[in-house]
Amino acid sequence: MTLKFLGIKLKNPMVLASGVLGNSKDILERVHENGCGLVTMKSIGPEPRDGHNNPTVIDLGCGLINAVGLPSPGYLNMENEWKDLKNRDFPIIASIYGGSVKEYKMVAEFVSLKKPDFIEINISCPNSEKHGMIFGVNPQSSHDVVAAVKKVINVPLIVKLTPQALNIGDIAKACEDAGADAICAINTLGPGMVIDIEARMPVLSFKKGGLSGPMIKPVAIRCVFDIYKAVDIPIIGLGGITTGEDAIEMIMAGASLVGIGSAVRYRGIDVFQTVSDEMEAWFLDHHCSLDDIKGAAHEGNQS
Ligand SMILES: Cc1cc2nc3c(=O)[nH]c(=O)nc-3n(C[C@H](O)[C@H](O)[C@H](O)COP(=O)(O)O)c2cc1C
Repeated sequence: MTLKFLGIKLKNPMVLASGVLGNSKDILERVHENGCGLVTMKSIGPEPRDGHNNPTVIDLGCGLINAVGLPSPGYLNMENEWKDLKNRDFPIIASIYGGSVKEYKMVAEFVSLKKPDFIEINISCPNSEKHGMIFGVNPQSSHDVVAAVKKVINVPLIVKLTPQALNIGDIAKACEDAGADAICAINTLGPGMVIDIEARMPVLSFKKGGLSGPMIKPVAIRCVFDIYKAVDIPIIGLGGITTGEDAIEMIMAGASLVGIGSAVRYRGIDVFQTVSDEMEAWFLDHHCSLDDIKGAAHEGNQS
């Protein structure tokens, strides 16, 4: 199922979501070898951050709740990772975040020099008081950060959006107008909370966290559907994708590529190959291809 995404050849439409497996070359390479066409690094921030104390991730069965809190060595402290990743034979997306337009620009400009295939700006993380979220819920601030970053990088720019935005289509359009080359949606949904009724207190140390996995899939599908209606640039659709049929649904909503995060926990690291094979089987069975079904849920649908 080879395809091209913004000029880069991929072996299939599967994408590793940012954050679930870190930034070491070994693990990113293993994900690629296990069937993932495009791997996203964990979001890199302007300064070193420890993230929140444990517990930070809880499996609710229907998905995960997490408040890892954007742990990051800081963009200036990743020389070993960049050195390793220089000699890679697989495409990567470097994900970054900041607390201001100035910080996004600073991190993006530096990371661009490391020559990832794409840069993704995370303007959607709900897990820290200061970072990210503020940009992704407002079209003007989304536009401003995208326009600023676009000027200082020389690789295609992907913008990762939050389902918290009241009109995610307007946010996506503002990003496209500012020069974004693609949209990635969605980040975790929430914040949510889980209370231990015996301890009479929230289970996560940060109390609140973002939801991911199967329980958020209908929200992710709706967001991608709305974004597809609003923009012409390609979409990486993710949120709860666990099976080939989930991936087909995401493509019918309008996604060009399909991301997987939490399902690594449920189906193992070869989930990428498994989902890709399941999609192939579905295409064979239905005598069609990925291109035939992209955005199919929009046909004849005026609402
Ligand atoms: C433990 C954990 C850490 C995450 N870290 C990041 C991150 O650093 N940057 C980011 O943009 N998204 C991060 N995400 C969000 C995922 O990339 C993804 O958007 C979200 O989990 C929905 O996809 P899924 O349902 O397939 O997991 C994280 C998610 C989880 C569960």
